[in-house]
Amino acid sequence: MTESLVPASLVTASRNPESLAAESPEPAAPSGRTALITGATSGIGAEYARQLASGGYALILVARDAERLAASAAAIGRRHGCSVETIAADLATDAGVDQVVARLAEGRDRSDRFVDLLVNNAGFGTKGSLVAGDGVAQEAMVRLHVLAVHRLSDAALRPMVARARGAIITVSSVASYLTSPGNVNYCATKAYQRMAMEALAREVSGRGVYVQAFCPGFTRTEFHARAALTTDPIPRVLWMEAETAVAISLAALAARRPTTVIPGFLNRAIVTLLGLLPRWLLSRGTRPYESTRAAGGAPSA
Ligand SMILES: NC(=O)c1ccc[n+]([C@@H]2O[C@H](COP(=O)([O-])OP(=O)(O)OC[C@H]3O[C@@H](n4cnc5c(N)ncnc54)[C@H](OP(=O)(O)O)[C@@H]3O)[C@@H](O)[C@H]2O)c1
Repeated sequence: MTESLVPASLVTASRNPESLAAESPEPAAPSGRTALITGATSGIGAEYARQLASGGYALILVARDAERLAASAAAIGRRHGCSVETIAADLATDAGVDQVVARLAEGRDRSDRFVDLLVNNAGFGTKGSLVAGDGVAQEAMVRLHVLAVHRLSDAALRPMVARARGAIITVSSVASYLTSPGNVNYCATKAYQRMAMEALAREVSGRGVYVQAFCPGFTRTEFHARAALTTDPIPRVLWMEAETAVAISLAALAARRPTTVIPGFLNRAIVTLLGLLPRWLLSRGTRPYESTRAAGGAPSA
């Protein structure tokens, strides 16, 4: 049987998300495992970093803002006593992805450089229609959500398969189940992430590697403010804290199932409904909402 990737302390925390709110003053016992998290300085990625560090993982944090990265690493290292490496890299560029690929590839020959868990989390949203919008941002989105995820997963997977252990989590979205004017590339790239992970999970089945497509709905992070999206039209009941969402993802990592993780009953109900309704009815029902999106008014998740 494959060894669990998550230490007992983390499993307990993941099953009780509320217990994560009060930070433990005690450093976690090192698990001997390393997690590389992209987009680790804010929101969902920062929460993966905190919860994995509290479970005894050593961390490699990746984001663009080097100063914020150093501050995050110092805070986590102080609090949990774990080793924290940082890589300041723009994953929408070839050079940025090359840096992280090189670090992941070191695990092929050196067990002390092996990365047990890759979390493909870095991502962003945009506002407005494709034709009227910023072409540079749209291309960066495709590069970050698709090309970087493909290249990092490939680089991480080779040493994992060779050692018959490891895990990849890619943070997709409930939006991966939608096609939406005003959100053309976001929905399409999130669908790529979910579908690629679902297929990859089947491809590596029985080889000791767990793959997860994590599909949160609306989550309180910096995501919407960064894209200058208004959150007013979104009912409060649809929002989830990043801490709760990540705890659900990590509980699935501990159990090594399922492949597709949709946190929260309401998000699962929405996805079920999206699968059941015929497309013509779906687009008719969501047209008023989509027209605000196309005008740049409403947020994506
Ligand atoms: N919040 C939601 O409602 C929601 C719902 C479903 C799915 N998601 C997904 O969750 C993931 C995390 O988003 P979040 O909500 O936590 O957003 P967030 O708070 O804005 O955090 C985004 C993180 O990604 C990093 N990042 C952005 N562009 C990058 C690039 N080109 N290269 C490297 N790092 C980059 C940012 O740091 P730097 O700016 O320093 O690079 C930051 O650490 C995204 O993939 C998003 O699509 C979010």
